This record gives sequence, structure tokens and C-alpha cells, in this order.
Amino acid sequence: MDMQTGRGVRLSLKQRYILLLIAAGLIIAYQFTRNRPETRKMARIEGLRANTSQFTLERKPFRILGGSIHYFRVPRAYWEDRLLKMKACGINTLTTYVPWNLHEPERGVFNFEDQLDLEAYLRLAASLGLWVILRPGPYICAEWDLGGLPSWLLRDQNMKLRTTYPGFTRAVDSFFDQLIKRAVPHQYSKGGPIIAVQVENEYGTYAKDEAYMPFIKEALLSRGITEQLLTSDNKEGLTLGAVKGGLETLNFQKLDMSDIKYLEKVQPQRPKMVMEYWSGWFDVWGDLHHVFSADEMLQVVTAILKLDMSINLYMFHGGTNFGFMSGALAHRLPTPKAMVTSYDYDAPLSEAGDYTTKYHLLRNLFSLYHTQPLPELPSLHERRAYQAVVIQQHLSLWDSLSFADKPLKSEKPVNMENLPVNNNNGQSYGYTLYETVITTAGTLNSKNNVRDRALVFVNKHFVGVLDYKTQELPLPDGQGKRTLSLLVENCGRVNYGKTLDEQRKGLIGDIELNKLVLRDFIIHSLSMKPGFVNRLENAGQWMSMRQKPSFPSFFQAKLYVNSFPKDTFIKLPGWGKGFVFVNGKNLGRYWSIGPQQTLYVPGPWLQRGNNQVIVFEEQESDGKIQFASNPDYGMPVDVQ
Ligand code: GLA
Repeated sequence: MDMQTGRGVRLSLKQRYILLLIAAGLIIAYQFTRNRPETRKMARIEGLRANTSQFTLERKPFRILGGSIHYFRVPRAYWEDRLLKMKACGINTLTTYVPWNLHEPERGVFNFEDQLDLEAYLRLAASLGLWVILRPGPYICAEWDLGGLPSWLLRDQNMKLRTTYPGFTRAVDSFFDQLIKRAVPHQYSKGGPIIAVQVENEYGTYAKDEAYMPFIKEALLSRGITEQLLTSDNKEGLTLGAVKGGLETLNFQKLDMSDIKYLEKVQPQRPKMVMEYWSGWFDVWGDLHHVFSADEMLQVVTAILKLDMSINLYMFHGGTNFGFMSGALAHRLPTPKAMVTSYDYDAPLSEAGDYTTKYHLLRNLFSLYHTQPLPELPSLHERRAYQAVVIQQHLSLWDSLSFADKPLKSEKPVNMENLPVNNNNGQSYGYTLYETVITTAGTLNSKNNVRDRALVFVNKHFVGVLDYKTQELPLPDGQGKRTLSLLVENCGRVNYGKTLDEQRKGLIGDIELNKLVLRDFIIHSLSMKPGFVNRLENAGQWMSMRQKPSFPSFFQAKLYVNSFPKDTFIKLPGWGKGFVFVNGKNLGRYWSIGPQQTLYVPGPWLQRGNNQVIVFEEQESDGKIQFASNPDYGMPVDVQ
């Protein structure tokens, strides 16, 4: 008001226009700052707290209903599908490990893209309303080669993994510099979904160095981790695996009240959580397929919830150990047993994303712990049993060698990790071919230096297999100089137990013929990476199937898909042992001894029209590749 005239202030058109602009500017600025993480941070109340007998989140009592899905075991195109199905089951928290070996394939070379785009995974979880517990290792166990540690660490003959040995801590520091800065912005306090971070993994049963857990904890804190810290162990390792300020959580499958009482005793008046409730179990080659009863699972989960505890289902959805990523089991065994390719785990959501009985039982149970009805079940992806395809061409292993890295001449055998390949990071996975000239027949003795399995040839004729059990092989008579070849496969490094430092592969020492040490090797590194398989595809040496193939060989076929590509499973009933590539992606190993008899082929990895299938087979082939719409994991047996 104009106090003198008593009339309202009259603004010119121009003044009104300016005022309008200022108002619009203010609104835009407000919206902008509101969405900035710092502002969201202020708006956020308080993250996960574990100071009393119950978790609180945002100052309200909170129960973690968690489930594990590893982004590196699920094709990226299916991340959303699996997480939506998780959400629809009533899970409120996603837990995932981080596989160091994939993120840093060569020392100092990092990959956080595509299938390994952890940040995209975290953003996706957040967008679906899932909280996240991050389990960054650096050791993750997980039935994953060397428990996720990169094999190049083993180039150091004195390496002491999971200790404060400087060669190890330096490598962890440099990996965490890259990893943790990607996790920090996704923490609750920054507006993200991460409410807790696990320190290492089951260190209590390893416990080789008291200074190690404090080191890992500090490595997280100093890089900006601010959310609740956790440790996860079985009962035996619980206290040894703990860190100051971290909440100790338990891992188990069958309910034993004395475990829970023990947790309460060592950590009174804190929230109780089963970090790994094993919903099923994993399988190893040459054994049966493990299943865990859905009813028993339900009983135990019900009991855990009645005890007011939090839970994480390991696994909620297992997925697949694509490529050569599966680990090996050595614990309480005389010799290691390699893990199979599927990580179905008999989990609530199957390898191909199907709902199982466990899923439905859990959904009913979890719905009681939600005030809102659970989301509708997302629809399933169709699968197809494509028509069998006939192998068109083959290329022998011997002919493929010219497409591999230049071979190394060495007086003595050199183990995979110490080969001068991969920018001097050594060979990590796959096969290594050791060749030398012999002039006599007699007994070949591996001196137990084969890791893990060698196909033995004299002048390219197969003579037998050397492995942990068979350490001696008679070589046939013959005249003059002959080439002895050992194609040694790394079947997967042990992922659990005290022998991690010993997981070197290939020939790890001398071998003898008639008690004389063999010398002067030519060593071919055959890590079977996509680049190599691509080069093979275009090689001129492929032969038609009219000519009988020799073994080992690569086999090529085309799968023609005439409509939208669907998920399928590959079956190779007349074949022995090897691995399969589809359109440049390694689906993993197959082996007729089972239990697993099918390999999962995700639809998004296929295309309309022709699809290139390449099979590497060590010993036999029936000339065709079959497809099935359902998996065959082999003869089931209850988990003991
Ligand atoms: C332990 C590990 C997991 C996994 C399970 C078995 O609890 O922490 O990584 O290996 O065993 O599946």
C-alpha cells in the first residue's frame, strides 16, 4: 500500500514480467537444490542403527528381510526382472558381493562397465525401493574362483592372501580406491540405498592375522563408508571374525537354538541377524545335485522371524557361474572338487528366473510382515526348446594355436599365473598347453604337480588323463623324437579354506619320465577369451564334418532364431567335457559326469537370425547341439 495515497502499488507491465521471471527462477532453484544429494542428505533422518536389540532405520524399528542376488551372475538385461521378482516376494533389502577378479582383471586395469556396472545396479535397486547391504570383500568366497581374489596376486611366490602382508594390502588399497568411491555416493546418508556394508567375509574361520580385519575396516572408513558395518561368520568363526563397531551376524541353514543363544551371549542387546540363511546349496562336478527341502526352509525362516531376528536369504536367486568363474571345494576333502557352472542353488528364484515352491512359501510368510499388499508377481519369460542344430565345422586345438598368444620357451614348467601374458599379469583361467620332446616310452609321473587336470598326448594322440588321483601314465612305445603335450585345465580355484595361497594352476612343478625330470618346454597360454574365440571364428582352417574330427577341437554351428529370442538350455548328451560360446559369450563348462546336464542360455544373448555357437570339446562329440526348455541339474540329493 502506498501509505500516502492509500492506493495499492501499481506495477508496470515490465516490472510484472521481471517479478514473474524471478519467481520462476526461485522455483527452479528450489527444485534443483532439493534433488541434490547434500540436500537429500539433510532431509534423511537416520540410517540403519544397531545399538539396541532391534535395528532401527529412520528411527523406526526395522527388520531386514534380505536376499542375495549377485549382479555378476545375472545377465544385465535381467537385473530388473530378478529384482522386481525379489520385491514381489516381500524382500526389502538386496545384498550383493563384489567380485574383485572381474573388476580388476589386470593389476591397475579396472572394469565397472556393462555387466559390471555396480552403480547402475545400486541405482536400479534404489529405484525399485530396495535397500542394499554391500559386501565388497575383498574376499567373497561365494563358490567363485579364489573367492573373488584376482589370480595375479599369486604371481608373488610369498603372497599371503587375506593378511596384512604388504603385497596384499597394497593391492586391496588400490582396488578399494576405485571401488569404494563408486559405493560412497549410494549410501543412505547421501540419499542412496546402501544401509550397511560388510567387512570381509567369514574371516573368523581363516583368522591368519589379527591386524587384518582392522585394516579392512579402516580401508572402508577412510574412503568414506559411513553406514552400519557388519561381519558375517558361522558360529565357530563368530568372535574371531568380528571388528570393533561392526555388528556380528550368523550364517547357517539348519536351526540350532544354541547358535542363536551363543550370538546373544557374545553380543547381548544388539539386533540378531542371519546374514546367510542358506536357502539351498551348490554342486560340484562328479557328485549329485543338492536340494534343500522347501518345508524345512520355511520352518526355519518362520522360526527366525518369530525370534524377532533379521534374515538374508543366501541365495534368493543364484544365477550362473558364466565363463570359468566357478570355484572349487577343498574343505575336509583330500583333493579339491570343482564347482559346476550353474549357481541355481535350489534358491527361491531359479537360475532362469522361475518362481519355485520356496518362492511362494516365502511370499506368503513375508506378506505377514508388510502392512501393504505385496506387488503382483511379474510375468515369467517364455522359454524355448529350439530345434537341435547340426555341427557344420571343426577346428582342431592344434590348428587353433596360431591364433593364441605367442608361446613361451622355458626350461622348466611355469605355472599359469607366472606366464608372461596378459600384460604380465599371467594367465588367470582356462587351459595351458605344455609341450616337450621325448625320445623314449615309459612312465610319465606328474609328481602331483598337475593343477587340475591334464589331457596327455604323444604326437597329438591322446594317451590319458593326469589329475589328483592318477599321477602316473604309461606312454606308448615309439621311434625317435616325439612331442609330449599336456593340456592342463584350471578347473577353478578353491574359494574357501586355508589353502588359498596355494591355488596356482597349470604345471606347478616338474614332471618326470622314467624318473628323469623333463625339461625344455614350449608353453601355450589358452585362456579362451572372447577375443581369441572371435579370431578362430574367422580362421580359414575350419574343416567340414565330412572329415572326422580329432580331439580336442572347436566345433561350430549356427542356431537360427526366427522370432524374438527366448531363454533356452543347451544339452550335449553325446559330448564329453568342454565349454560353450554363444555369440562371443562364454556360457561356462559342461561335463558329462554331471550332475549338471544343461547350460543356461539367456534370451538377451541371442539374436533374431543366425547365432554363432562354438563348442570346445576335449574328447567326443555326436555332431549336434540340443536345446531344452527346462534345466537338468542331475540326480537330486538332500543337503546334509
Ligand atoms: C559361506 C560364504 C558364502 C558361500 C556360502 C556357501 O557362508 O560366506 O560366500 O560360499 O558359504 O554357499
